[in-house]
Amino acid sequence: MNQPRNILVTSALPYANGPIHLGHLVEYIQTDIWVRFQRMRGHDCWYVCADDTHGTPIMLRAEKEGIAPAELIRRVHREHSRDFAGFHVEFDTYYTTHSDETRHYAERIYAALQDRGLIEARSIDQFFDPVKEMFLPDRFIKGECPRCHAKHQYGDSCEACGATYQPTELIEPYSAISGTAPVRKESVHYFFKLGECAAFLKEWTKAGHLQPEAANKLDEWFRAGLNDWDISRDAPYFGFEIPDAPGKYFYVWLDAPIGYMGSFQHLCNRVGLDFAAFWGIDSQAELYHFIGKDILYFHTLFWPAMLHYAGFRTPTKVFAHGFLTVNGEKMSKSRGTFITAESYLKEGLNPEWLRYYYACKLNGTMEDIDLNLDDFVLRVNSDLVGKFVNIASRSAGFITKRFASCLGRFDAAIDVFQEFVAAGEQVADHYENRDYGRAVREIMRLADLANQYVDTHKPWEIAKTVGRDADLHAVCTTALQLFRLLALYLKPILPHLAVQAEALLQTTLTWDAAGHPLAEGHQIQPYQHLLTRIDPKQVAALVAANTSNLAAETESHSPARHAEHQLHEIHPIAETITIDDFAKIDLRVAKIVSAEHVEGADKLLKLTLDLGNETRTVFAGIKSAYQPDRLVGRLTVMVANLAPRKMKFGLSEGMVLAAGPGGRDIFVLQPDEGAQPGMRVK
Ligand code: MSP
Ligand code: ZN
Repeated sequence: MNQPRNILVTSALPYANGPIHLGHLVEYIQTDIWVRFQRMRGHDCWYVCADDTHGTPIMLRAEKEGIAPAELIRRVHREHSRDFAGFHVEFDTYYTTHSDETRHYAERIYAALQDRGLIEARSIDQFFDPVKEMFLPDRFIKGECPRCHAKHQYGDSCEACGATYQPTELIEPYSAISGTAPVRKESVHYFFKLGECAAFLKEWTKAGHLQPEAANKLDEWFRAGLNDWDISRDAPYFGFEIPDAPGKYFYVWLDAPIGYMGSFQHLCNRVGLDFAAFWGIDSQAELYHFIGKDILYFHTLFWPAMLHYAGFRTPTKVFAHGFLTVNGEKMSKSRGTFITAESYLKEGLNPEWLRYYYACKLNGTMEDIDLNLDDFVLRVNSDLVGKFVNIASRSAGFITKRFASCLGRFDAAIDVFQEFVAAGEQVADHYENRDYGRAVREIMRLADLANQYVDTHKPWEIAKTVGRDADLHAVCTTALQLFRLLALYLKPILPHLAVQAEALLQTTLTWDAAGHPLAEGHQIQPYQHLLTRIDPKQVAALVAANTSNLAAETESHSPARHAEHQLHEIHPIAETITIDDFAKIDLRVAKIVSAEHVEGADKLLKLTLDLGNETRTVFAGIKSAYQPDRLVGRLTVMVANLAPRKMKFGLSEGMVLAAGPGGRDIFVLQPDEGAQPGMRVK
């Protein structure tokens, strides 16, 4: 084994305003496998993470729930920690950016950048919501697209035509928070002069810290020119106030990566590590950030520049992965593929099934990875149950019953064992390169060899033949020696299964001991079932549990989702509204003139509604409860002034009122006799 390395690893810090879902888990499972692998190889490897707690969406979310932000982030921290533990993602510390440690480094880095002349105050003109009395981030301003004139587009980009623009270019802008027209207002902001860091960054990009496709992306950004970065926000804001600038706060993306340092400092305080040995300018330690491709800009431009000019070391490497799709499409609440970590565990699915499937799919590049739910069932059942566990289940029983649980003589020189040992270094290389897919393929190739060995020697037949005890003992012993190596190689991916295998074999699976077989006479424990198959019904139940009833298509995922948006991901719980709020809702009697199935939509019916003097198209999530023809001719009540919503299947121009828990129990509300299409309901 080489010299032990000192390694610090991070995963991106999840936002503290939403649940962990299977998309997030790609990253945390990818990182956790790598960290476990490094530790198995004898290296000192620390893994830190935290919740990313600051910013406008979190502030507004807490407000909606009627609680203080601090309370919201405490609750979410508990939920996130629980979910990660449930998937065997083991951090050395899972902290929060809302901490003294993070504040300390944020202030220190900011002061250092100021000293270097890299911070500049400038007055800028921004949209301000006069009702809510706050400046509006781009994502909280909506209006008509200046290019294609689609209504109700976000302030930074149009979801209809893909145009990107400044919020000030929107036609008839309005605040997505209060609905009022925003006014323009001046305010002083602080900018980090990224443009002045270009020479350093260009060199850094070429120095082997990035994947080739990430480096290409950066070249594009360099060609487009680096803009100075606005790192301050005005009160009200949930975050750290900027020293000597009352009412000004650090923008969440300034302190988020600094949260890596804060989290590590917290660990140092706990276990006595030396912070400077990892972050100091001449640190010999290795530093790796695992991130999704959507946050490359922050981690490969802003972050190295901040670190470098503030006198800290820069990352050894930034490892970006692609995005998760489910059944080839973006995760979607209406299709039930926006699957939360919590629901996966609650439905009783085994976390190691997912760890294994992701490992099969990950290859160290920025390509997206697909969770195909049918393939998931087949893969896990055939590889883990059919190939891997099968070897132990076919051999361990005989050892227990016929040989008092003792292993027999074993010749380590046999080809198959030597091949298994030799393959270990390749498997290790694949892990090191985050090419887990190849590692798994190699391990499954070995599993096939082990199964061939068992199939050729047929222990179940030898067992019936008198006088062949020695052969039976040898065959089963060999099978278990091979099984030990498979379990060892899979251990970073399947830590829990590895513990069970260790209990069965009464050994610790370490890479050092790969070439040392278990000794003759070594005692094992009775075989107990190691892993169950996935029943496709469990997957169907999981999708059903994640399908939101009456759901519109919610999977808006524009590239700018990090620019403080996420309004559409906030699910308001019913709170008290005033009579004025109520008066804003234009409720009308509508006649359903036609109702049709929508191709490709599991939940929706397309309704054509007669409002007396106009017709509207509405997509309603009531398919589970109604045959379309049962609806035609009926009167119902609709919200007539709901902002139209562009859905995958067309524009939905309002909403039909319905009651009930969902599924078959959805009841479209009907006005009393005498009602006429178009009448106001009040
Ligand atoms: N808070 C920021 C990161 C700050 S790091 C200093 C953030 N949070 S996030 O919750 O949106 O995402 C956390 C990580 O999960 C990111 O690396 C992101 O790329 C990743 N993923 C979120 N959704 C994902 C998929 N659907 N697929 C794969 N990874 C995904 O970004
Ligand atoms: Zn447009």
